[in-house]
Formats: sequence, structure tokens, C-alpha cells
Amino acid sequence: MADLSIDFVGIRSPNPFWLASAPPTDKEINVVRAFEAGWGGVVWKTVGEDPNVVNVHGPRYAVSYAADRRVTGFNNIELISDRPLRTNLEEMTRVKRNWPDRALVASIMVPCTEEAWKNILPRVEDTGCDGIELNFGCPHGMSERGMGAAVGQVPEYIQMVAEWCKHYSKLPVIVKLTPNVADIRPAARAAKKGGADAVSLINTINSIMGVDLDAMAMFPHTDGKGSHGGYCGPGAKPIALHMVAEIARDPQTAGLPISGIGGVSTWRDAAEFIALGSGSVQVCTAAMVYGFKIVQDLCDGLSNFMDQKGYANLEQLRGRAVGSITDWQQLNLNHVDKAVIHQDLCIQCGRCHVVCEDTSHQAISATKDGMRFFEVKEEECVGCNLCVSICPVPGALSMRTLKAGETDARTGHPVVGHYANWTTHPNNPMRTGSPA
Ligand SMILES: Cc1cc2nc3c(=O)[nH]c(=O)nc-3n(C[C@H](O)[C@H](O)[C@H](O)COP(=O)(O)O)c2cc1C
Ligand code: SF4
Ligand code: SF4
Repeated sequence: MADLSIDFVGIRSPNPFWLASAPPTDKEINVVRAFEAGWGGVVWKTVGEDPNVVNVHGPRYAVSYAADRRVTGFNNIELISDRPLRTNLEEMTRVKRNWPDRALVASIMVPCTEEAWKNILPRVEDTGCDGIELNFGCPHGMSERGMGAAVGQVPEYIQMVAEWCKHYSKLPVIVKLTPNVADIRPAARAAKKGGADAVSLINTINSIMGVDLDAMAMFPHTDGKGSHGGYCGPGAKPIALHMVAEIARDPQTAGLPISGIGGVSTWRDAAEFIALGSGSVQVCTAAMVYGFKIVQDLCDGLSNFMDQKGYANLEQLRGRAVGSITDWQQLNLNHVDKAVIHQDLCIQCGRCHVVCEDTSHQAISATKDGMRFFEVKEEECVGCNLCVSICPVPGALSMRTLKAGETDARTGHPVVGHYANWTTHPNNPMRTGSPA
């Protein structure tokens, strides 16, 4: 059976699944129950200076649903822990003492002054926790006070605070990044320059979930007024994967340990984060939607997958897909795919025809011999994948790659076997050479 244990910047846990800093980790009672359920570690709900912050006493969460009421996205306007620092630290101390084999990382957010970090770090370290996560990510409430995302959006601040933490603490330092930036790489580079041992990402995305059209007020609102919140859950996963991959393949940060976060609900999601370079995986929304026990499915699924594919441990899987990501201009423009409808599976719903006809390349016919029948016109198909994405029957539509020498019915030219990209394409006025 595959070994799921990890050693992430010296922090060991029996599996890669950590609960992210959020309500599931905000008290001893939750964390103990999470460990009993099998979570490998937790990042404690972010602690800050006293006096503790005050949350609104109204809706602080909202969700977006699929048609079957499955939660596709989650939004919150919650602040960091609203309990006294001492209470959190006492509970963390007890939890770490009673659960020595699990990872316990303390998430911290204090004002951006050396004094504030110098004061809190030894108190956190005294709990016996395994590492600290610097919350430079929360996009609401705390950022208006110059903390959270307000720090994560300025690389110089990230570097400065990481340096203070490395100076005043012996613990591994994980910098938690905000996705509310145009490019994640400067933030990760700054964390590395500041001596951080790792980065974790993503925190939540600036968002408004919707408008209550009876009250004519955004939702969620408190007494008729709302403010933007942080978006997470399944809808955030593609953004998170992209940012994780950007850091993993950036020559300046390649090799910097990453704790992947954002929309992980299944073992597959987790395996994707690991394949793109994550050494641990953090989960919040899925635990808030399905409860702590999902960790059993996450572990079983990941372990079965690794056994099937012959990965003995997570290090063999980590980063395996990073090399598949490149810039658009490096893609092979000589590669040709065509859609194929598998008539044995097609239920004749016609959706592929409608979408291709209305919004793509008019490449799917709807009748044959006066009867309803759906077929790809290869002479029009550009291989865009819209029909495959929209077809409701798995496997009824797929893509086929044309072999070298085969004629592309759309262009009338044989497919060229070799690789050539935009940098050498004759249509590119900025081309740097001639195609091979
Ligand atoms: C209700 C709620 C509260 C959160 N509070 C914190 C927090 O205190 N500190 C922090 O670093 N991240 C916080 N987060 C962000 C999560 O740790 C995580 O980065 C984000 O939710 C993405 O993961 P997910 O898609 O699995 O939920 C919070 C998220 C939610 C939903
Ligand atoms: S969308 Fe799928 S099932 Fe529907 S007609 Fe097209 S191939 Fe057949
Ligand atoms: S791949 Fe695109 S162009 Fe080809 S049939 Fe499907 S939707 Fe039309």
C-alpha cells in the first residue's frame, strides 16, 4: 500500500491532508475531532493580538449551487479568530501534546511592525507547534486594517515580515499567499527571498456572491449592507492550480515547497495539486460542507490511485505534471485533433450540434437521410473541444489526434509530424526563426 506520510519542511504528518486555517480549526474541540477522523494535520484558525477582533452577528457565509444543490463555491466575511490569544495558545499546547504525530501549524496575523511579530512569535513557539503560517491572504476586514491581503499584495512587505519571522523564530515559516494579485510569482519570490521555508496558496478571492432582488441588497448582508467576501471551494480550484503551477515552474521559485489549497473536495483534486508540485494539501470548504469524515475518502482514494499507478510514496507523484505546463507560444501548432461522435453511446440530444452551430465552427450536422443524426464534419472541425465539454453522455464524444501524413480535411494539407510553435510561424511578424 502506498505511503501517504509526508515531511513538509520538517513538519511530519501521517497523510498530506491538513485542515486549512478556518472555522474547522478554530478550537481544541474541533481539532481533536478532526484528528480522530484521520486528518494528518491542521493549520489553526489565524490568531492575532488582543483585544480579539469582533465578527458580525449575521450571515457571514454564502454559497453558490449547481442545479442539484451541490455547493460549487463558498464565500465568507469572517475575520481571524475572535477568541483571546491566550485561549488559543493554551488549546494549541494541549492538542500538540496529546497528538504528537499530527502536524499543528499556527497561523498568525498581526500588524506589519517588527515589534508585533517579535512579541507574538515566542508565545506561539511555546505551544510546541510544528510551524507557523503567515496569513497574508485574507481579503476582507483585516486587509482594511493593513493586514492579510494588504501585506500579500506588496512583495516588499512579504519579504520583510518573512525575514522578521525567520529572525525571531526557529520554526519553519510558511507564507500564505493571496490570489488577489495579477501575477502570483512576485509574491512567492519575495517569500523565498525573505527566507520562508514554504508558501501556501490560495487564500480566498475577492467576491460578491449575489444580490437579494427583493431587498435590493447584496448577499450576504447585515442589516441591509454587505461588504465583499472571500470566495473558495470547487469554483476556486482552477485559479489555485494555476497559481501553484506558476510557482512550481518559475525558475526563481522552482523547488520552493508548496502547500496547495483551494477547492479540494476529492482525492483527485488533491492528486492534481500534488502533481503540480504541492507537498501538502489543505482543505476548508469541503470539510465545512461534508464534515470531517471526508478525510477517509481522500486518503483511501489517493492511496488506491497511487497503488494503481505504481507510486510508492507522495514524493514520486509530487510535481509530475509541472513539466506539461508551458506558455501558449510554445504549443505545437502542427498538432491536429478532430471531434468524433460515438454513435453507440449518442442519445441524439443534439446539444453538440447546437453549441457548435451557434458558437463554434458549424461542424456538426443534425440530420442524415432526413432523420435526426449527429455527425462531425471534419472539413469544418477545428478541434476546439466545446462539443466534448458539453455532451451529457460521458464517452459519446471524444477527440482523435490525426497522425502524421494524414490529410486534415479542413485545410486539405497533410499533417506535418514535427513540432513547430508560434515563435517560428510565418504569420508571426515577430518570429524568431523558421519552422523546423
Ligand atoms: C469561513 C472561512 C474562514 C476562513 N478563515 C481563514 C483564516 O482565519 N485564516 C486563513 O489563513 N484563511 C482563512 N480562510 C481561507 C481558507 O483557509 C482557505 O485558504 C480557503 O478557504 C481555500 O480553501 P477551500 O477552497 O478548501 O475552502 C477561511 C475560509 C473560510 C471559508
Ligand atoms: S451531445 Fe452527445 S449525446 Fe447529444 S447528440 Fe451530441 S454526441 Fe450525441
Ligand atoms: S471540436 Fe469544436 S469545431 Fe469540432 S465539432 Fe466540436 S465544437 Fe465543433
